[in-house]
Amino acid sequence: MRAIEAENLEIYYGEYKAIEGLTFYLEQGETLLLLGPNGAGKTTLLKVLAGFHTNYRGKVLIFGKRPDEAREFVAYVPQSFALNVRVPLSALEVVAMGALYRSGLAHLNIPPDVVRRAQEVLEFLGIGDVANEPFRNLSGGQKQRVLIARALISNPRILLLDEPLSALDPKARIDATAILSKIKDEMSITMVITTHDVNPLIEIGDKVMLIDRRLVAFGGPEEVLKDEVIAKVYGSASKTIRVGERLYCIIGDVHMPREVAP
Ligand SMILES: Nc1ncnc2c1ncn2[C@@H]1O[C@H](COP(=O)(O)OP(=O)(O)OP(=O)(O)O)[C@@H](O)[C@H]1O
Ligand SMILES: [Mg+2]
Repeated sequence: MRAIEAENLEIYYGEYKAIEGLTFYLEQGETLLLLGPNGAGKTTLLKVLAGFHTNYRGKVLIFGKRPDEAREFVAYVPQSFALNVRVPLSALEVVAMGALYRSGLAHLNIPPDVVRRAQEVLEFLGIGDVANEPFRNLSGGQKQRVLIARALISNPRILLLDEPLSALDPKARIDATAILSKIKDEMSITMVITTHDVNPLIEIGDKVMLIDRRLVAFGGPEEVLKDEVIAKVYGSASKTIRVGERLYCIIGDVHMPREVAP
């Protein structure tokens, strides 16, 4: 059975159709990179997959179930503004919340097995040493990993990550990419990752989907990351280039126009 299957999916806010024509699928253990400009509908699609947003038409199934009936399989790491939340909890308590909210227990009384699992997940993500630090004092990169740990503690089969790299500096981006790669290799979780910059993630993407309030392209990285495909959304200054084995996507022309000498 497929992890995710969508056919002719249309997603609405009230009567407003935010996105249409989504047909795609993901096998268990595969990673999907979801690309599209601001307002394309990336976060909206993740909310539908997470079972939070149910105003849609067409078919979408998570392991054969409607998303709102499959919430136990899915964990969601929200877009980066969540990193600014100044909750008065330790890193470990934030992670434990991921296990406790499902069982309805208060965070003040964390059972020892949950404390142990939270510590293990933080260690798996390479930040076991910040477990007892206040969450609000952590760096952006550390907070991001704590939020990924909070998502992983419930042993999801599908992990949805909304722009996990966008708030990070170049070094933290490299670390976060390594973490996502480790999760893919060692936990065989199905992942959907939205991003504006596909380059750091190309190697872990089994499938790439480009959307712009509709489906523009879905397929393997080589099929989607072609000049003529990305130009449809990002304009003709967008190119893909190959350096050895690696494929790079250059989206838009990032150079300022240079004055031409008279
Ligand atoms: N709560 C809402 N009510 C009404 N319209 C909304 C709501 N949330 C999003 N939209 C609209 O849905 C469309 C898609 O928004 P969405 O946030 O999914 O885009 P996105 O691809 O995640 O953009 P970004 O790259 O900026 O995060 C936009 O036109 C947006 O204005
Ligand atoms: Mg978004």
